[in-house]
Amino acid sequence: MRTDQIRDLAIKRHDIDAEFFQNTYTDKVKNVKKVHPFRYGRNLILEDLKKILEQLPSGARVLDIGSGTGHLTQWIASMGFDVVGVEPSSEMIGFARKNFPELKFSEGISSAIPYPAEKFDLVVAFEVFRYLDKKENFNTYQEVKRVLKKDGIFFFTQINRYATDYYYFFYYIKKIIYKIRNKVYHYCFFTTPAAQKGMLLTTGYSSVQTIGRMAASIRVAYKLGKKAGDMYIRLIEKIYGKQRFTKWPMRSLAGHLIVIAKK
Ligand SMILES: C[S@@+](CC[C@H](N)C(=O)[O-])C[C@H]1O[C@@H](n2cnc3c(N)ncnc32)[C@H](O)[C@@H]1O
Repeated sequence: MRTDQIRDLAIKRHDIDAEFFQNTYTDKVKNVKKVHPFRYGRNLILEDLKKILEQLPSGARVLDIGSGTGHLTQWIASMGFDVVGVEPSSEMIGFARKNFPELKFSEGISSAIPYPAEKFDLVVAFEVFRYLDKKENFNTYQEVKRVLKKDGIFFFTQINRYATDYYYFFYYIKKIIYKIRNKVYHYCFFTTPAAQKGMLLTTGYSSVQTIGRMAASIRVAYKLGKKAGDMYIRLIEKIYGKQRFTKWPMRSLAGHLIVIAKK
């Protein structure tokens, strides 16, 4: 598939899944397997984002790319920042505007941000670039650099290729099954901390930090039910605490890869 086809597919997919995302945030989804590890991992990522936000002056300008239903945008706004969302799916942005009419959400994609150069102190993107191919990720990194102020920070998540939920392996099995059935399976960009560092430095960012969060095997444990998942988390926390991995190999095996780059 071409870069623009992959990009369009991601938008279509979120048009279809918008209600699922809305229900996840408004606590209407009871799917333990998906929602519990999602919430747990999300809270760990927010810990790192909070540390970055605390370094910014109050009222600093923040851009939330792929702002979806707007819940992350609102969380940032609640901490006193001047935040706007950019989102291409009309269904997702429709929910965001209904959920938070006081916030601003613009239509747009990550590689063509509808804002002037050097406008933002911080650009965030949670669970967005995984739907784009490498070329579009590169285009995005360049575009974000354009809208960041000098020394501005870019904070985003990616999918670790070697995460210990073995999603990489299961994704390709599922993709083959879809192909046999003549159906299109969503695109997924798998990467590594070293590859991300290389891409951002090549794009001209001055420094890059990568952090792995959450033992990915927690997702596997929740497949066995809530009780098994909760017990497993207690065990993991005894061993690894809040699972913040900054070194090889744990960083590459974690369930979430956080990338923080400075312009
Ligand atoms: C999994 S959702 C995450 C939403 C939100 N960031 C969050 O974490 O709650 C991914 C979002 O990225 C958006 N998206 C897809 N392709 C995009 C693109 N090329 N540029 C910007 N956003 C995109 C989707 O429409 C969707 O709202």
